[in-house]
Amino acid sequence: MSRIELGKGIAGLSKRVLLIVGGGVAAYKALELTRLLRKAGVGVRPILTRAGAQFVTPLSLSALAEDKVYQDLFSLTDESEMGHIELSRSADLVVVAPATADLMAKAANGLADDLASTTLLATDKPVLMAPAMNVRMWLNPATQRNLKTLQDDGVRFIGPGEGPMACGEFGPGRLAEPPAICEAIMLAGKRVVVTAGPTAEPIDPVRVLTNRSSGKQGYAIAGALAELGAEVTLVSGPTALPAPIGVKRVWVETAVDMLEATKAALPADAAVCVAAVADWRVDQVFGLKLKKGKDGPPTLTLVENPDILATLSASGPARPKLVVGFAAETDNIEANAKAKLARKGCDWIVANDVADAWVMGGDENAVLLVTKAGVDRWERAAKTDVARRLALKIAEALA
Ligand code: CTP
Repeated sequence: MSRIELGKGIAGLSKRVLLIVGGGVAAYKALELTRLLRKAGVGVRPILTRAGAQFVTPLSLSALAEDKVYQDLFSLTDESEMGHIELSRSADLVVVAPATADLMAKAANGLADDLASTTLLATDKPVLMAPAMNVRMWLNPATQRNLKTLQDDGVRFIGPGEGPMACGEFGPGRLAEPPAICEAIMLAGKRVVVTAGPTAEPIDPVRVLTNRSSGKQGYAIAGALAELGAEVTLVSGPTALPAPIGVKRVWVETAVDMLEATKAALPADAAVCVAAVADWRVDQVFGLKLKKGKDGPPTLTLVENPDILATLSASGPARPKLVVGFAAETDNIEANAKAKLARKGCDWIVANDVADAWVMGGDENAVLLVTKAGVDRWERAAKTDVARRLALKIAEALA
């Protein structure tokens, strides 16, 4: 899929990036990254490590960033102008590109012996690392251990990619391409809440009313939004799926719990309601397990569940700027989706045709995106591709 037009997605977010350039052949790509970010209106304040300065000159970096390059922890002039603590907080986001094995090791262990590592230790801002190194160094258990530690600490990673490397070897270790790094910060600083999966409405302590939703589409959307840098809360009904990387998952069972958890995740810039919420719940849940008996089957009285999508769409000052709903239709998809858009008060409806047996629980989806501006038909594609496309659209809308 083609990348979103650069500049459209990230411009307008008035982001400021603190870019740490580590030492490695790939450091030259940090220049291209700086150029792309500036073109998109993002402020770039560079820190160049001593090793980084062996590969790119402070002059090139400074010219492209249109800012001063910070290099020395003990520089009298730099410290008097802006102390390293202040520097670490002067941006909305810290990007490390290339992140060397050494920088990762220092950050994973809290070492602070130069300006880059001290800044990483002192910052209270989100950190995105784009590693680049020799394949053996990347695969070394020490680096993999540091990667895990940093991920557990909340550091996000993009790449490394696979391919031929400057050292003549082949494998994972190549720096992610600059446009991909730009894309990974499109939603930085944005909060999104996603509902996914089925709900399970208790009948008695052992029985529930539920549905066949697998949660795959909602999980893929949460993951795709996180890949663009959003802070994602995934409010999930019961599923067997692992939480996507970088997503905060909140487990719920019932529609009422899902509504509460969703409201608790506000304020958010966008909400995407993908969950297949049970329309009804049992009015009086039986406290003890129902037994077969001479009275025959029990009669269940159902009451309507709250509508999470409609509630979020109408939530006044707390309303997310963009509220997206899903619709599962078997016929008159477009007309039904338009009616649903109006009825629920949301901004977009993603309508899927569930008449085809391959959609529910499957890995593919074909959708119609219905907005107030019109209807867009997306051909059948992997749910992960639909998710990525929707996430990019959301990034554009929030820019
Ligand atoms: N939804 C919700 N809370 C509910 C019911 C639905 O948030 N209690 C959301 C779903 O997550 C989805 C959209 O509303 O985004 C689906 O609307 P719904 O009215 O349930 O549509 P369908 O399931 O397609 O059913 P119907 O056509 O019968 O209305």
